[in-house]
Amino acid sequence: MQKIHVKANAHWMNDPNGFIYYKNKYHLFYQCFPYGPRWGRMHWAHVVSSDLVHWEYQGIAVFPSKMDDRNGCFSGSAVEDDGKMYLYYTGVRYLEENPEDINLCVDEQFVSAQMMLTSEDGYRFDNIKDKKTILPVFCDNQIADARHTRDPKVWKEEDGWYMVLGSTEGNRRGKLLFFRSTDKENWSYINSVTKENGFGWMWECPDYFETGGKQILIFSPMGFCKNGKAYSDQSICMQVTFRKETCEMELPDTYQFLDYGLDLYAPQTTVDEKGRRILMAWLRMPEAVEGRWNGMQCIPRVVEAKQDHIYFRVHPNIRNAFRRKISRPEEADPNGYRIIFSLRDGEALDVGGYHIERKGMRICTDRSRLVEEAWNMQTEFSTPELKDGFQLEVYVDQNMIEVFVNDGEYVISNCVYNLGTKIRQQGQVTYDIYTLEESDMPKG
Ligand code: FRU
Repeated sequence: MQKIHVKANAHWMNDPNGFIYYKNKYHLFYQCFPYGPRWGRMHWAHVVSSDLVHWEYQGIAVFPSKMDDRNGCFSGSAVEDDGKMYLYYTGVRYLEENPEDINLCVDEQFVSAQMMLTSEDGYRFDNIKDKKTILPVFCDNQIADARHTRDPKVWKEEDGWYMVLGSTEGNRRGKLLFFRSTDKENWSYINSVTKENGFGWMWECPDYFETGGKQILIFSPMGFCKNGKAYSDQSICMQVTFRKETCEMELPDTYQFLDYGLDLYAPQTTVDEKGRRILMAWLRMPEAVEGRWNGMQCIPRVVEAKQDHIYFRVHPNIRNAFRRKISRPEEADPNGYRIIFSLRDGEALDVGGYHIERKGMRICTDRSRLVEEAWNMQTEFSTPELKDGFQLEVYVDQNMIEVFVNDGEYVISNCVYNLGTKIRQQGQVTYDIYTLEESDMPKG
């Protein structure tokens, strides 16, 4: 069992998939290469939780078994209907396999189809009998790219089922495709949206939803940030207008990064048992830990929109789990601790080598002592100018620091290596530290 963070289990992890509250449990799947700590022929691994704090590993749920997904089961989502679980994802088939490593293709020679796998109980997945192709490889380039069209996110409206897919227009700009269905199996293309000169060349993992009366789009444009450092692909979010009758969407020019640590990628949302919109995302890591595993999920966040800002707050179940007060990190549970403090201009707190400082109206962080230079990672991060104050709530794990500023006005999450145990102040910072209860925690 894992607590707080879902981490790759002696293998490789990337995007969260099929995140759903189903029959009183949270089901989370994730992109997984089960044979080693590197990306390859994708499978979906599966974890289940009743409180978003404790996660029980269930093994591999989705694996290549059909012609259309023989080289990988890419990202997708889950919905429930009539008690059944429906998984939607992208099946990948290589047109040219790398002869020295059949888990990879040559020169991006692959095609994508959209697939569906159903389950009666969310635990048993028959990859032979219950899997089918619902949208075969696109052959009309005007509608969609045969190669780069993927990551179905399905949701329900009063008049039926909707699907959004991420795609590209001629590898020049990103594009979203909208489909509709009444039976969850037969899908009709309705509309698409793109943006002149904006947001990268391919849009991965789109997610559209309403919260607090606002229409929100989250997606992950590829080739978005070009600063010569790792990770030009970044996840962003924005308030959009969406007319569901015609599936017309308008995107503004402004956006927020999903997370200002720029390591998080490919987020996915669902609705929790209390109706909150919650999100999980992959934290990218430059190197496998102990050469054994690579990839983690962030702690679940509650997405809220107020006026023109989107907040990513700590899920209350997580916060409630960290309530045993301690005086030093050495006393903490192996699953980490939480520090609460506020900063005046020029003050800083250094957490095991991770530096968090207030500079004017911004919170800035620096992880240069916790990653190797050879990895070419970005090391310094900053929020935009803050409006809500300078309150910090930092979740510290051996390999991940998540800095929530002003209850999610902005978040900076970073992966770190060889984190120390000392906390040092610059200025007169006072702080409180909390860790998990010794026994298992009740639900929040
Ligand atoms: C995003 C992504 C998705 C794709 C999956 C493959 O990280 O590239 O677009 O479905 O990962 O693992």
